[in-house]
Amino acid sequence: MIKKTLAAAVFAALSALTATSAHADPLSYARYDQVRTTDLYLDLKADFSHKTLAGYAELTLNWIDKSARTLVLDTNELNVSKVQVLAANGRWSAASFMLDKLELQKGRALRIALPFQPQKVRVYYRTAPSATALQWMNPEQTMSGKRPFMFSQSEEINARSWAPVQDTPAVRFTYSARIEAPAGMRVVMSAENDPNATGAGGWKFRMTQPIPSYLLAIAIGELDVRPVGPRSAVYAEPQRIEAAANELVDTEKMIAAAESLYGPYRWERYDMIVLPPSFPIGGMENPRMTFLTPTMIAGDRSLVDLIAHELAHSWSGNLVTNASWKHFWLNEGFTTYVTTRIVEKLYGEEVAEMNLQVEQEEAMASLAGIPAAKQALVSRDPDTSAATYTDSGLVYPKGAWLLRTLEQRAGREVFDPFLRGWFDQHAFQSATTDEFVDYLKKNLLAAHPEVMTQAELEEWLYGAGIPASAKHAASARLAALDAQRSAWLKGELPTADLSARSWIALEWMHFLNDINGKATAQQMQELDQNFGVGKTGNNEIAYRFFLASVQAGYNVREPLNKFLLSVGRQKFVVPLYTALLKNANEKDWAKGVYAKARSHYHPETQTSVDKAFKKAQ
Ligand code: BES
Ligand code: ZN
Repeated sequence: MIKKTLAAAVFAALSALTATSAHADPLSYARYDQVRTTDLYLDLKADFSHKTLAGYAELTLNWIDKSARTLVLDTNELNVSKVQVLAANGRWSAASFMLDKLELQKGRALRIALPFQPQKVRVYYRTAPSATALQWMNPEQTMSGKRPFMFSQSEEINARSWAPVQDTPAVRFTYSARIEAPAGMRVVMSAENDPNATGAGGWKFRMTQPIPSYLLAIAIGELDVRPVGPRSAVYAEPQRIEAAANELVDTEKMIAAAESLYGPYRWERYDMIVLPPSFPIGGMENPRMTFLTPTMIAGDRSLVDLIAHELAHSWSGNLVTNASWKHFWLNEGFTTYVTTRIVEKLYGEEVAEMNLQVEQEEAMASLAGIPAAKQALVSRDPDTSAATYTDSGLVYPKGAWLLRTLEQRAGREVFDPFLRGWFDQHAFQSATTDEFVDYLKKNLLAAHPEVMTQAELEEWLYGAGIPASAKHAASARLAALDAQRSAWLKGELPTADLSARSWIALEWMHFLNDINGKATAQQMQELDQNFGVGKTGNNEIAYRFFLASVQAGYNVREPLNKFLLSVGRQKFVVPLYTALLKNANEKDWAKGVYAKARSHYHPETQTSVDKAFKKAQ
């Protein structure tokens, strides 16, 4: 009996070791097979005139390899001034350190030489004004124009530009922070936020659940807060708080819907912050504080599936996390699937089916632009080079499609508890695709082998495109709309006779996707005049309308100029500039707009648009 336990323990230790090397994350320098951060404390002061955070990070360590004498942390553009280690006698002493050579993207390894294995290490540092995770805005870039603003975007590997950490999703730690900010500003983080805090003595935060580094988040600005539900509030610039709160009234319903499917929400509060327009993406699932683009405020709540998506990450991603960025589909594919389930609970089957159809059609259309080798959900190559990673956009709909296929074949009474079990059994852990496949085989395919053959599963995971066996969503409402669209494109149905007045946002998106490159300038103008599409508050619609208009040669300069100056989301602005640059008549105009808009964009967006301009030269 004792023998068996011992053997089991040895085996567990060995397999933990091999598992760790299989998890090796090529995007991190950290040796987390030797040592793991269990807690992080940040003591930082925000200096808006120099655009820096400065202070220290204190890491609590769990030593696994008893012979290790080096601590390697990820950094990017951090200016490290001093490192201290905590001895058993409770004294802090200086430790020597060096920063390795800079690698593009990965940054520099901070190597700390250790005389012994300390339980805690302090790194004193300051961030660079160009820190990739941080955007520092001048007052003119905010709504009130009175105070500056700063926010972070750490995913995937930018946390290292504002804190020296083991910057890999394979390592999880709790954290706390004390942040000093100028008077008149509020600090929020992806942690417990006290809505009644005043900031006296610094803003204090605690995150008591272990999270990976990419979920470290901070925002500082002139912020108001407004409750939108029993466990939710929204933070936003004062001029936007009313509209934001009004848009987000369904938040609690969404949390309840997700809980009814996948078990209790485990992060206590679900708050949100609406950021200035240069926020480069739609939303970021920072735990307890989702970060949002202001362009999600359509005025009619037609874009709140974005909230469903970020909320879904509270299970898929934040609770069960991809062990390295190779397994990104475990975060985003699962989240995309869960989003549609939440949408169905709130808005019904018909809307969910339309949502799914638009998502799947956009995925099919995107395939033409993605090399076959990048179309898998996950690469078969060992996780040694990020160059083999799959297309990060495609894994959203494709991963969701795989889960939907399993659900439809197994039935919800089997599939829903199965998926809930995945979240429960891997809660607060990081996971690989192989771990999911094991779980799938044991907990679903063993009893229901007819659901999917090994060959088909492998085709989904490692093959290009969408398997021919996949069932495509087919909404009756979108089919009716297709009939109208064909007649309209042929000139058989006058624009005024389109039933567009009763279309919901998804119908507009579907319609506009399908006429892109086919409609005439005249038809685009009629759409605009009859239905005021150019003035819509829904940016997903506006974006598609502008794209089809530029393609057709319909002049939308005035509203498009406004759009490009006020919207910073990469997903919108990059394709729009690219389309404008392809059009000889619009090229110079686009240059002029970008000259004015560039400084309003996030550095990441600037880089992407710069590339589009270079390509068009
Ligand atoms: N976690 C992602 C954002 C992300 C992904 C940031 C990869 C950096 C690297 C977030 O949850 C997301 O998917 N946002 C989407 C929302 C959409 C799919 C509803 C976005 O911003 O477009
Ligand atoms: Zn996501």
